[in-house]
Amino acid sequence: FNVPTPKNEPVLNYAPGSKEREALKAALEAARSTTVDVPMFIGGEEVRTGNTKPMNPPHDHQHILGHYHEGDAAHVEQAIDAALAAKADWEDLSWEHRAAIFLKAADLIAGPYRAKLNAATMLGQSKSAYQAEIDSACEIIDFLRFNVAYMQEIYEQQPNSADGIWNRLEQRPLEGFVFALTPFNFTAIAGNLPTSAAMMGNTVVWKASNTQIYSANVLMEVFKEAGVPDGVINLVHVSGPVAGEVIFNHPEFAGIHFTGSTGVFQHIWKTIGENIHKYKSYPRIVGETGGKDFIVAHESANIDALVIGMVRGAFEFQGQKCSAASRAYIPHTIWEEVKEKLVAKIAELKMGPVEDFTNFVNAVIDEKSFDNIAGYIDGAKANDMVEVIAGGNYDKSKGYFVEPTVLLSHDPQSTTMVEEIFGPVLTIYVYDANDFGLALEIVDQTSPYALTGAIFSQDRYAASLATKALRNAAGNFYINDKPTGAVVGQQPFGGGRASGTNDKAGSMINLLRWVSPRTIKETF
Ligand code: ALA
Repeated sequence: FNVPTPKNEPVLNYAPGSKEREALKAALEAARSTTVDVPMFIGGEEVRTGNTKPMNPPHDHQHILGHYHEGDAAHVEQAIDAALAAKADWEDLSWEHRAAIFLKAADLIAGPYRAKLNAATMLGQSKSAYQAEIDSACEIIDFLRFNVAYMQEIYEQQPNSADGIWNRLEQRPLEGFVFALTPFNFTAIAGNLPTSAAMMGNTVVWKASNTQIYSANVLMEVFKEAGVPDGVINLVHVSGPVAGEVIFNHPEFAGIHFTGSTGVFQHIWKTIGENIHKYKSYPRIVGETGGKDFIVAHESANIDALVIGMVRGAFEFQGQKCSAASRAYIPHTIWEEVKEKLVAKIAELKMGPVEDFTNFVNAVIDEKSFDNIAGYIDGAKANDMVEVIAGGNYDKSKGYFVEPTVLLSHDPQSTTMVEEIFGPVLTIYVYDANDFGLALEIVDQTSPYALTGAIFSQDRYAASLATKALRNAAGNFYINDKPTGAVVGQQPFGGGRASGTNDKAGSMINLLRWVSPRTIKETF
């Protein structure tokens, strides 16, 4: 069997007057002019509790896109029961049939659902058209198509045999159900976490972030149309603690596929540890968590490329990518030029709602996040060791808007230099160009995270030195490029230290976490 060779989905450019722009505008208008009533999906049934919560565009928080129905512990139990009931038939289905379902899902997103899913991501998560396109079109399509190809490779890998002996490896799904707990910031990640486990024959209880339910609902529509059987992916809308209480006490809990904050992941890990005696098997714990991603420049850096890397790395999607650059280290010899070009570039960035495609910066996800980011900016303003170089203003009257903000810190350990902010704030430390080695040590040692990072250098020896010195400081390391925008099939994504278990999303490594191999030896 040969699955279709995966190729990265081309990014559409939505040029004015293009067919795709017209389709996207129509989808945005349609979504704006209706309100949706979003159920949970349990065992293929749409479940409505009447306990509804509004969904609002972060850039226009008085507008109502619709309501979702919130459930309680009983719904989580029903979702687990549905997942367990669907399991035998699902894992019995040959992998080619499972593959075909997810390939069809990819085709549906690439074609008829592209505009609808992009519009949902734009409105529900305040993503620009371009950021939505690379996320809720290209990346989720790539995850599905590449994972299917990795899946085939996994099933085909067999051990050696010998005279009179036939050895086989059987890749069994995990025993029990998998829990997918997904973030708001990438519709693609929200879609990938349940589907990658499901693809390998598992059935899943999925809890999306409350601020991503609007686009998660469209993903469920796609999965249904693609033929994902009832009960294979069950989407519940409940609070985190309610879900956790039921799931982590359940004997059939087999694994968690998580992307979210380090704090929540550590709490989950501890809870699983405390309950370990309750489970049939040791659960798989796969998580991608926080980051304090860096850009370090050597004095040989191409300054124009560096500035573009800083602006795009720090401010695309308002700095709410787990990979976003939020600290930068610039040698004093080039700082004045970098500063001038950076400030000029930021002044060109337009901020506003997603419906105006010329806006580069949109709103941050919700009020809690806005207040948190504003608090960091205020703290920096009050710190004598920190200067505001660009931005620094925020306004939540209509939407949760925070200006792209650049801070210059004279202390490499100031709060915004070391803590994750998850917003459009970049803090810069200017180091003595004569001590590049010390700068690298500071980069490595001042953050507990290790997700992404970049070195800008035209000096090959400096690039090599940085690559070695920062070996454990980032799971995705970039030379002369921004630290965001990993492409499935090209740069498997994930980090270590406090940033996660580094099980590389969109790779064979990740899919292997969702199977439990059985070795079979037969003697003739
Ligand atoms: N995979 C996403 C990126 O690399 C998070 O930006």
